[in-house]
Amino acid sequence: MKSLLRIAAAQGITLSQPDWENLFGRRAPLEVDLGCGRGYFAKLRAVEFPEINQIALDARIKWIELLQTRCLAEKITNLQALRCDVTQDLPVLFAKGSIAGFTIHHPDPWWKKRHRKRRLIQPALVGQFASLLVPRGWVFIQTDVPDLAAEIRQIFESNPGFVEADVDRIRSEKLGGLSSHREKKCLQLGIPVSRLAFCRSDQKPGGS
Ligand SMILES: C[S@@+](CC[C@H](N)C(=O)[O-])C[C@H]1O[C@@H](n2cnc3c(N)ncnc32)[C@H](O)[C@@H]1O
Repeated sequence: MKSLLRIAAAQGITLSQPDWENLFGRRAPLEVDLGCGRGYFAKLRAVEFPEINQIALDARIKWIELLQTRCLAEKITNLQALRCDVTQDLPVLFAKGSIAGFTIHHPDPWWKKRHRKRRLIQPALVGQFASLLVPRGWVFIQTDVPDLAAEIRQIFESNPGFVEADVDRIRSEKLGGLSSHREKKCLQLGIPVSRLAFCRSDQKPGGS
């Protein structure tokens, strides 16, 4: 999978961070959906929460183009979709302390043991979340892969920048209980979904 960084290096281009406020035409809390797939969740989020600026990232250009076309057709102006490798490109896309929340719905499972290192959520990525989030920033993750939630929890627990948050509150209060495409399928088929939420350790959002 080619990251924006590698493509730019191969073409001798120096990348500069996008000016998101300018691209959206306004200043608003920035939320990023990682591995957005068809963009089902990101589009719902943007439409039902017009007060946020939503960014949807995926490695597959097919999904990104589909989402861009839909946004254009439906005149959705608070959603930007971009193809990239989220394991490599977040620091070139976003300034430190600029993201209100990250969502990750059903990251690829990479079932085989020898492929586990390809799983999306790794210590380095969690370190990037910590530096990119605003002080009350949060991360919401869900998966239908049985052992993956425990693995993800361990990775976050070993980063002092995060504490575990009340996932039901984040899901209902912050995300309006909206589903992703894969989550809807799981719920229809009766496949259990595990959900996790973490926030910057300085303060729990919605904490009492
Ligand atoms: C199982 S699908 C889930 C899609 C969607 N989030 C949902 O819940 O319906 C995982 C998605 O992550 C994307 N993905 C995997 N690795 C990625 C990476 N390193 N950077 C960006 N996207 C990635 C895949 O292209 C795929 O669309």
